[in-house]
Amino acid sequence: MSTVNYELIGDIGVIRLNNPPVNALSHGLREGIWGAIKSAQEDASQALVLICEGRTFIAGADITEFSKPPQAPALSEVITEIENSLKPVIAAIHGTALGGGFEVALACHYRCALASAKVGLPEVKLGLLPGAGGTQRTPRLAGVAAALEMITKGAPIPAAKAKSMKLIDHVVDDDLFEGALAFARELIDQKAPPRRVRDITIDPASIPEGLFDDFRQRLEKRAPGQLAPQNIVSCVEAAVKLPFDKGLAKELDLFIECLLSSQSAALRHMFFAERRATKVQGLSKDTPIREINSIGIIGGGTMGGGIAMNFANAGIPVKLLDIDQAAVERGRAVIDKNYNISMKKGKITEPQKAHCLSLIQGTTDYSDLVEVDLVIEAVFENVTLKKEIFSKLDQYCKPGTILATNTSYQDIDQIAAATNRPEDVIGLHFFSPANVMKLLEVVRGSKSADDVIATAMRLAKTIKKVPVLAGNCYGFIGNRMLRPYAREAQLCLIEGATAEQIDTVMQSWGMAMGPIAVGDLAGLDIGHKAREGLSEAEKGDPKTYCIADALVEMGRLGQKSGAGYYRYDPETRARTSDPEVQAIIEAQAKAYGIERRDISDKEILNRLTFSLINEGARILEDGIAQRPSDIDVVYVYGYGFPPHRGGPMFYADSIGLKKIYDTICTFRDLYGEANWTPAPLLVQLVKEGKTFTDWADDQR
Ligand code: 3HC
Ligand code: NAI
Repeated sequence: MSTVNYELIGDIGVIRLNNPPVNALSHGLREGIWGAIKSAQEDASQALVLICEGRTFIAGADITEFSKPPQAPALSEVITEIENSLKPVIAAIHGTALGGGFEVALACHYRCALASAKVGLPEVKLGLLPGAGGTQRTPRLAGVAAALEMITKGAPIPAAKAKSMKLIDHVVDDDLFEGALAFARELIDQKAPPRRVRDITIDPASIPEGLFDDFRQRLEKRAPGQLAPQNIVSCVEAAVKLPFDKGLAKELDLFIECLLSSQSAALRHMFFAERRATKVQGLSKDTPIREINSIGIIGGGTMGGGIAMNFANAGIPVKLLDIDQAAVERGRAVIDKNYNISMKKGKITEPQKAHCLSLIQGTTDYSDLVEVDLVIEAVFENVTLKKEIFSKLDQYCKPGTILATNTSYQDIDQIAAATNRPEDVIGLHFFSPANVMKLLEVVRGSKSADDVIATAMRLAKTIKKVPVLAGNCYGFIGNRMLRPYAREAQLCLIEGATAEQIDTVMQSWGMAMGPIAVGDLAGLDIGHKAREGLSEAEKGDPKTYCIADALVEMGRLGQKSGAGYYRYDPETRARTSDPEVQAIIEAQAKAYGIERRDISDKEILNRLTFSLINEGARILEDGIAQRPSDIDVVYVYGYGFPPHRGGPMFYADSIGLKKIYDTICTFRDLYGEANWTPAPLLVQLVKEGKTFTDWADDQR
């Protein structure tokens, strides 16, 4: 079957699109639609139905074509052709009509959709705006305020809501094709004319004074420094203030500005990086997958409880085992509280909460785990304890059960060696809060079986996580890179920067939180406890933890105790700086013979980000990450790295590896080789004039 087929069924012309996997508007598809609409004007049809084969309606422009020279017909030309059709065109939507796909539907004169379908304009997530009339037609149908919300958020909208917003006309319950034909028949019988959205006018007087400026300000808080959301507001404003064609021209100009921006390049990189990360080199589509229909979790604390919620939300029953009944109850109470928060936010209903809770059963007895398909251990970070638990699991669990640990740092092989089935053992490293954070590091031990890895990667999708395969080393990908980043933050602090300065620099650059505030959130006692029992050599440079230790010794454990590096309002959790902390920092600097100095914002930014990148390069050399873009996914989804900068490795490529290498050499000369030796891969790529992306391409 070709990508576009046309068939006359009685007096209804049916245009069928078939461009797997998601009917993206590639050149071929655009040409096909354009031709079909044109030729249908000449035949006996009285109305046209545009419908798609496969899993979805059109999912948007073909993103892979954005970096290539444009080919006619442009999407806007196809859309004009549809809207100009003298016969009514009806879009029949299933799956998701997104971006350019929804813009095609908006150019049709009528829209019907399956009840399960969704429509949306997600371009903002790619650093773009709807560039084929979406910003001009949506406010004409749904109103200005609703259009601003919808296009700047980019979230898909279910059919029923879309109907209430007047974005679609008719919801079909089961058979879309039959439903669309019946709808077309009705329109023909009523002699309904082609109804063009562009002809709807918006009365500028109906728009409250200051609406656009207020919205711009709100967006600047929600997405500081981001171009696409601001440009979207200007486009919608143009839809109100300019005639349709002039509004379209403005939209195109601003779309191109976004398309050429570094922000969009980074976000488009992330779109493909996320999908590439799910693919494991050396595994094929034929690698068998084990069935996972039930889960066991050991340890119902902070992580275990959150992990359990992921599976319950996906309808998979969980046995949650803890040390005694009191611990089980504590775990269940926290889960209950978390579901209440989701309910308050309107994310789930009371019956959904009850259903999820009914899927999580507490236990203290390993014999309840005999039949489960996967166990995830999430007890204290203590390798001896973890080994004991794995040895027990080996005794109890049926053959074929996957045994996973949520350890943050420990050696998967050592844990696997406590069992007689190391091939069934892997790391499944969730991030806190585990019911919210999207990243899942799947850690491969030296003996982990291929089907275990393949099953874990597939399972991530079931529980709506983004998986990244990591090799087995201290801290895997994310936490291994975090060490030099946190080290530099602490060194900047003791050498002269303030906590506020460091956090402000990193947050205004785009990190979700600054590193010092993250320490307070995670709890300073955790690192303190982890250092207990380590030798001086294992603990590393005392200048990187002396301030934290001093704070813990004063009972300042972070947010949970109301004070850490900052002081926290018990009601609002708002933070304020604390002169007492400044005095501690100065005392520690004195104790280590450091003369504090002014440190520039630029130095802070470079020390923190370049230390991350240098460690990322080592991780690639060591084969711990499959590709640089996997590291980007880890940092964006697990550590709050700004997506519009594309992750640390993409950011490195975009500012130039030579610049990074030169700066690292300057830091080496200033601060010593121990922390600032350029990674051999970085040196090699600079010599060859290549980027990390070139290196990844060479490896394929
Ligand atoms: N262009 C090119 N390829 C696309 C694509 C697109 N718009 N959308 C998805 N794909 C590819 C993916 O890269 C993936 O390829 P792979 O199999 O080689 O990895 C494949 O299609 C399947 O995608 P998913 O794995 O994401 O499949 P799901 O079923 O999980 O999700 C989806 C389907 C909801 C449609 C999701 O793919 C999606 O959100 N796509 C992007 C939608 C989007 O952003 N559209 C706007 C594009 S910009 C635009 O239209 C500009 C216009 O205004 C001018
Ligand atoms: P936690 O202290 O909140 O919970 C640990 C739970 O394990 C407690 O409920 C405890 O009663 C239970 N437990 C202890 N010994 C047990 C035993 N012998 N049998 C059964 N249950 C037992 O710890 P948290 O934070 O949930 O961490 C768990 C694991 O997850 C650790 O390995 C940690 O490194 C890892 N992790 C933690 C993250 C975090 O941010 N807290 C993030 C990612 C991983």
